[in-house]
Amino acid sequence: MKLLTNTPSKIYLGSHSIQNFLNNLLQESNDSKVFLFISNSLPHKRVHKLLTVLPRNCFIKIVPNTESFKNFSVVQSLLKHLLTHQADRKSLLIAVGGGALLDTVGFVASIYLRGVRWWAIPTTPIAQMDSSIGGKTAINFLGKNTVGSFHLPQKTLIDIEFLSYFPKPLLEESFAEIAKMALGFDKKLCDYLLIHSLSSQESLLYALRKCILLKRKIVLADFKETKNIRTLLNFGHTFGHVFESVEKISHGKAVSKGLCISLSLSRRHGYCHKHEKEEAMALLHKMNLVFPINLPSTTILRKYLMKDKKRQNDRIHFVYYKKKKSLLTQATFVKSLIYDAQREF
Ligand SMILES: NC(=O)c1ccc[n+]([C@@H]2O[C@H](COP(=O)([O-])OP(=O)(O)OC[C@H]3O[C@@H](n4cnc5c(N)ncnc54)[C@H](O)[C@@H]3O)[C@@H](O)[C@H]2O)c1
Ligand SMILES: [Zn+2]
Repeated sequence: MKLLTNTPSKIYLGSHSIQNFLNNLLQESNDSKVFLFISNSLPHKRVHKLLTVLPRNCFIKIVPNTESFKNFSVVQSLLKHLLTHQADRKSLLIAVGGGALLDTVGFVASIYLRGVRWWAIPTTPIAQMDSSIGGKTAINFLGKNTVGSFHLPQKTLIDIEFLSYFPKPLLEESFAEIAKMALGFDKKLCDYLLIHSLSSQESLLYALRKCILLKRKIVLADFKETKNIRTLLNFGHTFGHVFESVEKISHGKAVSKGLCISLSLSRRHGYCHKHEKEEAMALLHKMNLVFPINLPSTTILRKYLMKDKKRQNDRIHFVYYKKKKSLLTQATFVKSLIYDAQREF
């Protein structure tokens, strides 16, 4: 595992079993107790491998790891576990799993005794590229991610070996997040992706490293999302979230569709030229990320688009693809987004 960055927290990336690495880090870390929360979806053999090297002061809890468990009752059960085993301020929490588990454990770490340290070991592509970087934690309560905090993991350990257990079609759809970062922020990564597929460990590591460092840069510039910089990461997500909810498809596939719509609307609203949109679409085609788009009805589109967190009356912050391959957020009337999307698709 290689150290990618020290700030705002330490992020390591590699493709070897992390257990020895984790063991060494724990020996240096001087924690009173270590609380490991592991996703129940990892193969037993893999979990066993991880557990063989852990220190004695370590408490292990296997936790369900899906969106429906990102809630107050799971938070309570994790807090109870910590209290029962007398976790103190010098205790360390470690979350091993997908984004839903990381978001929940990170949130618990932020509120237990007014905040204790935590490490993230992401095991899904979205968790490795996105949710373990940047310190956003959240649970769902009467809506998605309505309750949460900013609480950075002290360390993030990313081992792409975990992705070998992940269903291949879902893994490939999740590359929409890589396409998003490349199109929005990194021309060199676009060129790389046009030539290389992400099927080899080497190319996947290269793309992940780029995406992680890009996200880190954006987070450093706008940690609490007050400057409309972090909002740019929402590129493709406004419509993406609608498809994810309505069609119950993977986040990656939904974002792919959202990116197509954003590109079309960017051209239609004059933010980029036709050839720039087509160049961007060529990348999505190359990555097999172009899917048929059937827009839901106006009522449904309106219902979901109005849920945007930064909505101002009838307008939402929409992320446009701009000339010279950059992004821009612009408050746009929901009505016009719907009308123009319907004319394009
Ligand atoms: N905090 C942030 O900045 C941020 C960013 C993006 C997404 N998120 C959140 O992350 C969540 C989505 O993350 P996700 O895509 O990882 O989903 P997830 O955590 O729900 O995991 C998806 C599925 O994969 C399983 N799984 C975990 N590791 C696996 C492995 N190695 N092999 C096979 N299956 C495995 C899980 O049990 C689950 O069933 C959402 O709740 C989203 O809100 C947070
Ligand atoms: Zn996303």
